Amino acid sequence: METDGPASVDDASLNERVLILAPTGRDAALASEALAGAGLSAEVCADMEALCRELTAGAAVALIASEALAPEPLRLLQAALARQPPWSDLPVIILTSGGREPSAQGRLAGALDALGSTTLLERRLRVATLVHAAQAALGARRRQYEVRDHLEEHLRLEEKLQAEYQKQRVFLRDVLASVTGGRLHLCDAGADLPAPLPLSGEAIPLSQTGGLFELRHAAKRAALAEGFADERWQDLITAASEAAMNAAVHAGGGEGRVYKGRNGIVQVWVRDQGQGINVENLPRAALSKGYTTAGSLGHGMKMMLESVDRLWLLTGLEGTTVVMEQDRLPPPPQWC
Ligand SMILES: Nc1ncnc2c1ncn2[C@@H]1O[C@H](COP(=O)(O)OP(=O)(O)OP(=O)(O)O)[C@@H](O)[C@H]1O
Ligand SMILES: [Mg+2]
Repeated sequence: METDGPASVDDASLNERVLILAPTGRDAALASEALAGAGLSAEVCADMEALCRELTAGAAVALIASEALAPEPLRLLQAALARQPPWSDLPVIILTSGGREPSAQGRLAGALDALGSTTLLERRLRVATLVHAAQAALGARRRQYEVRDHLEEHLRLEEKLQAEYQKQRVFLRDVLASVTGGRLHLCDAGADLPAPLPLSGEAIPLSQTGGLFELRHAAKRAALAEGFADERWQDLITAASEAAMNAAVHAGGGEGRVYKGRNGIVQVWVRDQGQGINVENLPRAALSKGYTTAGSLGHGMKMMLESVDRLWLLTGLEGTTVVMEQDRLPPPPQWC
C-alpha cells in the first residue's frame, strides 16, 4: 500500500505499521510484499516528507534505503524523530547498498550519527532476514508502547491522587475553620495569606537563642499604639511567642515581623523554612493539647488559636508561615 496523504490519528493500527521508503527499483514493492506475507502491516511512502508525516501519525518501524538519506531528507527525518515523546525511540532499519560507493558510505555514516537507534541490513538480503529484522524491531517498539501505557497510567493515578489530596485539603480547611469558629484559615498558597497591614516593623530574626524578646516587645508596642487593653496585647504576645518558639524549635529558626494599620488591628507574621507540618498531623497539631513531635507539651498551637482573633497557617515542605491578627476590641460574645 502506498501513501502520501495524511493518515487518521485515531487508528490504533497505525502504531503497528512498518513504513517503507525505498525510492529506486522495486525494493519498496518487494519489501512490502515480504513483510505483508509475514503478517506485518507495511506501508510504502513516496518520499521522506510522506514518511515523516506518517511516522508522526503512528508507526512501529521505519525501513529506509540508504539512497533516500540525502542531506535534506535526512534533516527532515532527524527533525521528525526529535519530536518523538520521551518514551519513544522509533526503530529505524537502513537498507545499505553494500558499501561500494564512497558517496553512499559517507551518507550512511552521517545517517547513523544523526538517527540514534538503527539497524543496518546489507542488500541483497534474504526475505527471511528482512522479516526477522522487522519483527525484532516491532517487538522492541511494542515494549516502548508498554512503557508509554505504564507512564500514562502512572500519570492518571497521579492526577487522581492529586485531586483526592485537593479534596482532602478543602475538607480539612472547612473543618478547621468550622471548629475554630472561623478563626483558623488553613492556606494552600501564599496568595491565601492576608495582605500585610500597611505599617511594617523591622524583620526580627528568630532563633533558639534570640529574637523572642524583640518580637514580643515589637508586638506589645504596636498593640499599645493602637490602644489595646492589657488583656488584648497580652494575648497577642502569647500567641506571637508560641509561633516564634515553634519556628525556633521545629524549624531551627525563622523571622518575625509586626504590622499595623491605623484601624486598631495588629498583625504578627512568623515565617520559617523548615519541613512544615505534615497534613495528616495538622488537625491534631492545631486543635489538640498534647500533640507534639518534640517531646514538649504540645500546647502552643492551641494556645495561639485561643489567644488571637484570626490565624492564618501556611505550611508545607518549604516552611511555615503563621499570621496572627488581633483587633483592639475583643469579638462580641457568641450566643448559642
Ligand atoms: N513551624 C513549625 N514547623 C514544623 N512543625 C511545626 C511548626 N509548628 C508546629 N509544628 C508541629 O506541630 C506540633 C504542635 O505544635 P505545638 O506548638 O502545639 O506544640 P509543641 O511546639 O510541640 O509544644 P509546646 O508548644 O507546648 O512547647 C509540633 O510538635 C510540631 O510537630
Ligand atoms: Mg510549640
